[in-house]
Amino acid sequence: MKNILEAPFVLEFGKITANMYRLGWDERNGGNLSLLLDEEVVSKYLDLNKVIRNIPFSFDGKELAGRIFMVTGTGKYFRNVADDPERNTGIVRISEDGTYAELLWGYNDGGKMTMEFPSHMMAHIERLKIDSEHRVVMHCHPNNILAMTFVHSLDEREFTYTLWQMITESIVVFPDGVNILPWMMCGNNEIGAATAEKLKTARVCVWAQHGVYGVGKDLDEAFGLVETVEKAAEVYLKIANMPWKQTITEDQLRIVARDFKLKVREGWL
Ligand code: 13P
Ligand code: ZN
Repeated sequence: MKNILEAPFVLEFGKITANMYRLGWDERNGGNLSLLLDEEVVSKYLDLNKVIRNIPFSFDGKELAGRIFMVTGTGKYFRNVADDPERNTGIVRISEDGTYAELLWGYNDGGKMTMEFPSHMMAHIERLKIDSEHRVVMHCHPNNILAMTFVHSLDEREFTYTLWQMITESIVVFPDGVNILPWMMCGNNEIGAATAEKLKTARVCVWAQHGVYGVGKDLDEAFGLVETVEKAAEVYLKIANMPWKQTITEDQLRIVARDFKLKVREGWL
């Protein structure tokens, strides 16, 4: 067996969470991350017949039966993940009946998956239906996206349009736009189902007055998506209270869409 602490996916997971922390997206235990792993890859590092313990959950996870995920632990700090992944994250396999997670590695202080596990798993279910290469669900609390949800209309098209106008290449990174959930209690199945529904039509779902969800086919892609939305939100907040002398016009956005051959969200441009 190879040493799992040297597995590229464990190292990459540590690097991404450290960067998220460094950028201020994940104060204290804020944010959570899940990565769908390939069984064959994991089997080089772990005996897949050895289950440390079972961790029940309360949603229907049958569609993910047998799937293996690396997931941040509840209450754990992103800034500590790289130094001690075995304590701050876990590798879990969804049981055959989809009612519990089999812990294969990690959570070695008795911990368990993030409280947002329902949102993550429901999001994985929906995104895998749309994109077989999908692998990552990222949740975090970036300052500017969060701040924008207090002062900007939460109409999804209006919010997206503002973000597209802030950087020429915003629309290139998220032509599918940004969907938004109004404030809801977090950590339960209800917000999980609502988030997964929103992620059917966009790869970003903003949780008003809370944070954001971004998805992707790898950690880099999900990170880059959240990073771009966050930067656009930052530019918006810098200029929101100033008189605008010019902006990127709708016609100019159409030119970007044409030249990059983008599949822009239907009816939004
Ligand atoms: P966890 O510590 O359970 O991951 O919760 C953090 C969070 O961001 C909840 O939305
Ligand atoms: Zn959160």
